[in-house]
Amino acid sequence: MTSYDLVIRGGTLATAGESFVGDIGIKDGLIASLGRDLPKGAKEIDARGKLVTPGGIDAHCHVAQISSTGVWTADDFESATRSAMCGGTTTIVPFAAQHRGQSLREVVKEYHARAEGKTSIDYSFHLIVSDPHETALGQELPALIEDGYTSFKIYTTYDALKLSDRQVLDILALARRKRAMVMIHAENHDAMSWLAEKLIASGRKRPVYHCFAHNMTVESEATHRVIALAEMIDQPILIVHVSGREAIEEIRRARAKGLKVFAETCPQYLFLTQEDLDKQGLLGRMCMCSPPPRDKINQEYVWRGLADGLFDVFSSDHAPYRFDDPEGKMRGGPDAHFKMIPNGVPGLEVRLPLLYAEGLLKGRITLERFVALAATNAAKIYGLYPRKGSLAIGADADIAIWDPEREVTVSQSILHDNMDYTPYEGMKVKGWIDTTISRGEIVSIKGEPLAKPGRGRFLPKDKPDAAIPLGRSIFTEDISDIF
Ligand code: URP
Ligand code: ZN
Ligand code: ZN
Repeated sequence: MTSYDLVIRGGTLATAGESFVGDIGIKDGLIASLGRDLPKGAKEIDARGKLVTPGGIDAHCHVAQISSTGVWTADDFESATRSAMCGGTTTIVPFAAQHRGQSLREVVKEYHARAEGKTSIDYSFHLIVSDPHETALGQELPALIEDGYTSFKIYTTYDALKLSDRQVLDILALARRKRAMVMIHAENHDAMSWLAEKLIASGRKRPVYHCFAHNMTVESEATHRVIALAEMIDQPILIVHVSGREAIEEIRRARAKGLKVFAETCPQYLFLTQEDLDKQGLLGRMCMCSPPPRDKINQEYVWRGLADGLFDVFSSDHAPYRFDDPEGKMRGGPDAHFKMIPNGVPGLEVRLPLLYAEGLLKGRITLERFVALAATNAAKIYGLYPRKGSLAIGADADIAIWDPEREVTVSQSILHDNMDYTPYEGMKVKGWIDTTISRGEIVSIKGEPLAKPGRGRFLPKDKPDAAIPLGRSIFTEDISDIF
């Protein structure tokens, strides 16, 4: 008879495909059994009345990263993983971000050194490619893909990150040859810069004007454009942090054509609006991110996309800059114009509890969608499945247990990142995380951290099936040999 290290008993066990009441037996950090009335474990958790899902995967967060304008994120790997695990997340996939002129190999080494000994849960890396120079394209990226860095983010905006359309094509073609997933930040850089200059010159400097510069049209135009580039060379892509209706419609159109266009959205597009950037005093800068939050109607479009499968992934895009930091949200002082303020909002810890309470428990998304968005789809799209994102026998015992009765008022004082604000301060919700388990170890109970930094492991990623081209062409002759 198997003796388990831990048995989770009597919960509703949910995967992205089905749910049933039962027990999970855990042995040596892995899921060993699923069943009813399993033998007693060395430890036991009574999960009756609770929901038991795969631990969350946050596949878009910025940790120990220097932004393109030279500002450090407020969270390092210790505080970020502590915060994530207290919110039901058991794997994070932040970025190893290349600045122009840097070798990608060196960048990857640097980020490993930043994470070493500090993480409480498992982690992997996407690469940010801002300088696809000859060595990067010809040698570094192909070798890094083989080593498990099978996804990269590229940008159509930010002065120091932006790639031209031909550079985007270079990256897509490489991803096609080597089977990697390309994540794209889609906003029209020139249109935004032009608008921002004019807005600032006319005295419209407050954070709310960031929403005017980064309007929905610049997002949907760039979304349309990168989808067209991807279609041209027959390569799947994932559009990150989609904020509202017109960008969603571009993705729907692409999907209707049969294209493999994956999509991500984030809590800020469900729970914040442009009005939050228009708050009095200095508060508006707390909610500044790119693309910015839109309005209530757009929030409903995003909810619909989460419910009906338009969105594959729900990530935090945690990009933490403190309010009390003159190099953070107070950059440029109280009179700074919106272009000087670092973009980004925190969200690692609240991402899943908010989706659980406001999405699942309020009936906006099904249980299967909740699990798919929280963990399973990210694992599949980024090459971590089935080790992560599943409750299969043999998978890592990364598990989140959810309490539908727990009532919480969101406040920075209950969170565990290194921030001095949350944009969701004061929000009241019913339903929250109860327990987080990483590789069989209970790492957080009722929002309190238990794990020691240093136990997290690096996860090289497989080449994802999601990145396999469709095998279709817009050309009358097969010219795919040139890609
Ligand atoms: O405003 C944001 N999203 N900041 C983080 C960087 C990015 O583009 O994801
Ligand atoms: Zn981005
Ligand atoms: Zn981001």
